[in-house]
Amino acid sequence: MSKRILVTSALPYANGPIHLGHLAGAYLPADLYTRFQRLNNRDIIHICGSDEHGVPITIAAEKEGISPWDIINRYHTGNKEVFERFGIDFDYFGRTSSETHKKTSQEIFLNLHAQGIFTKKAQKQLYDEEMDMFLPDRYVKGTCPNCGHPEAYGDQCEKCGTSLSPTDLIDPISAISGNKPIIKETEHWFIPLGDFQDRLQDWIDSKKDWKTNVLGQCKSWLDTGLGDRAVTRDLTWGVPVPLPDADGKVLYVWFDAPIGYISATKEWAESKGDPDLWKSYWQNDETSLIHFIGKDNIVFHCIMFPATLMQHGDYILPENVPANEFLNLEGRKLSTSKGWAVWLHEYLDEFEPDLLRYALGTILPEAKDSDFSWKDFQSKVNSELADILGNFIFRTISFTDRFFDGDVPELKNPSELDINTLNEISNQKEKIESAYNSFKFREAIAETMHLARIGNRYFTETEPWKTRKENPELCGNTLHICLQISAALSILFEPVLPNKMHSLRRQLGLSEKISWDQVNPELLKAGQKITQDEILFEKIEDERVEEQINKLTERAADMSPEKKEYIPLKKEINFNNFTAIDVRAGKIIKAEKVEKSKKLLQITVDLGFETRTILSGIAEFFNASDLTGQTVCVVANLAPKKMMGIESNGMILMGEDSEGVLHFVETDAEPGSPVN
Ligand code: MF3
Ligand code: ZN
Repeated sequence: MSKRILVTSALPYANGPIHLGHLAGAYLPADLYTRFQRLNNRDIIHICGSDEHGVPITIAAEKEGISPWDIINRYHTGNKEVFERFGIDFDYFGRTSSETHKKTSQEIFLNLHAQGIFTKKAQKQLYDEEMDMFLPDRYVKGTCPNCGHPEAYGDQCEKCGTSLSPTDLIDPISAISGNKPIIKETEHWFIPLGDFQDRLQDWIDSKKDWKTNVLGQCKSWLDTGLGDRAVTRDLTWGVPVPLPDADGKVLYVWFDAPIGYISATKEWAESKGDPDLWKSYWQNDETSLIHFIGKDNIVFHCIMFPATLMQHGDYILPENVPANEFLNLEGRKLSTSKGWAVWLHEYLDEFEPDLLRYALGTILPEAKDSDFSWKDFQSKVNSELADILGNFIFRTISFTDRFFDGDVPELKNPSELDINTLNEISNQKEKIESAYNSFKFREAIAETMHLARIGNRYFTETEPWKTRKENPELCGNTLHICLQISAALSILFEPVLPNKMHSLRRQLGLSEKISWDQVNPELLKAGQKITQDEILFEKIEDERVEEQINKLTERAADMSPEKKEYIPLKKEINFNNFTAIDVRAGKIIKAEKVEKSKKLLQITVDLGFETRTILSGIAEFFNASDLTGQTVCVVANLAPKKMMGIESNGMILMGEDSEGVLHFVETDAEPGSPVN
């Protein structure tokens, strides 16, 4: 057994709030594991933080027209707070925009650079001429060369999961301007992962106990053969490449983000007043490093980051990477852009954290994708937490309170059933701990609930409501045993239900200093006082989950692309304002492009009573030569205006569709006729 454990969970991008998919992938399992190990008095720390670099951040900022700083500050603060409310008990929650992180990631980059590891080479990249920038990763969208999905990103197709380079995309377009990019050459630093192939292969082959889904992905990367991977990007947002010839270049977000685990540990050590303490976690063979992540992060944690750490040499490699598969929602793939997600802060405004910790814990996508539904959530709360655990504890405590003055009864002349039932405490304890130690959290939770089930059944079978009058000694034995099981549960369920078990221990008069090995059949002493205060679990009414389902479907409908957005109506005008505008039918008799202008056409219109020259910004939508003969609506009494040295006399009315494409407002009336 290693001396220390260093748990990390994937740094969430600070570009949006935390949802159930995040929790099921990394944070809840990491927290269950950490809380279990802490109860076992292990030296363990749980490190996380915000991933604040990369294209996901700058795109979010551009969408809202604010700076990346505004985005990361908002979500870093919000996410940190919501994790706390949910009881994810990080030892430190850092951020990759910190100075420590900049220094640490630059140091590691320079270390590898000094070893001559990187190759610098020219690369053809997509470039948006109008925005004057390269289009790495998600800055470009297009058709997936693998599956034909028309909305694939420059780094990955989310439909088929293939990882891509921007130049792989068919018909790429810039994700920010919609422009068609050109190809332009740029220079980048690459890590030749091929040189690491054998070392990585040997290392992964030695990991016999890793989950099959994780080993499977590693194997498929290794079988395909590892190639060169750029570790830098042409962007202005990120950790600057610390070399003299690297203007406008930053570290690739997937190079710097995992280093964020190290920088956050350094900051944690500083906050403990022992700045070198981080080294005993990262640079000491007696530490087990465990990365909790979702399956989309496997290659970065099992291939790329280990290669960096291996080459550097001073760091330990992960002992295990228990990556989870994906969580679906109500039978559909979770999608934040389609509004198909349950946000943690919204959940917490409605329900208690422990209920979701349990319900989600029982369906973690450990071996394959799983599904969260509100009905299932309700049934887990009502028929497991309330009907089994809650009911068992409630009847045990209230019976003791009413008929034994709140004193734990003595165990006298126990029957075989009594002894067997008490033995279940140690049996279940063993099963639960072995499940936790092998990252099988669903199993750990099921086995814990099983002990409550055993207790509940025993209570029913021994019928204390009858023995109370007929044979008080037997009744006392029943309650003694049920109280011991309750006490054991108050520790065994602690990782999953920290708030509820705190309350249970208060009722049982147990001290807050608890540890896993206290769990035994004699946790409570005969005569010890217990007090009933609150009921642990209330059932959830149908209306409350229906409300959640409606909220979800309404939001998804609101955000669906079929739903048109209309611009707000202008201020009301009176009739005279309206009739002041003189619109006439006009026939286009000639149209030509205005030289040196991308947008303007010079159009000659026959208004019947005279011929006009009108400039119109429609060159991107029409060929000048196609317009002749078209009858259109013209605002004929508009004051003249000069553009590009030409005077325009009037305006041609156009309709603009939701894609921004312009259409003529046509009429059959002869030139000069009024249009009202
Ligand atoms: N931000 C990434 C994601 O959400 C995860 C980063 S994990 C780390 O997919 F290794 F980079 F830290
Ligand atoms: Zn695809």
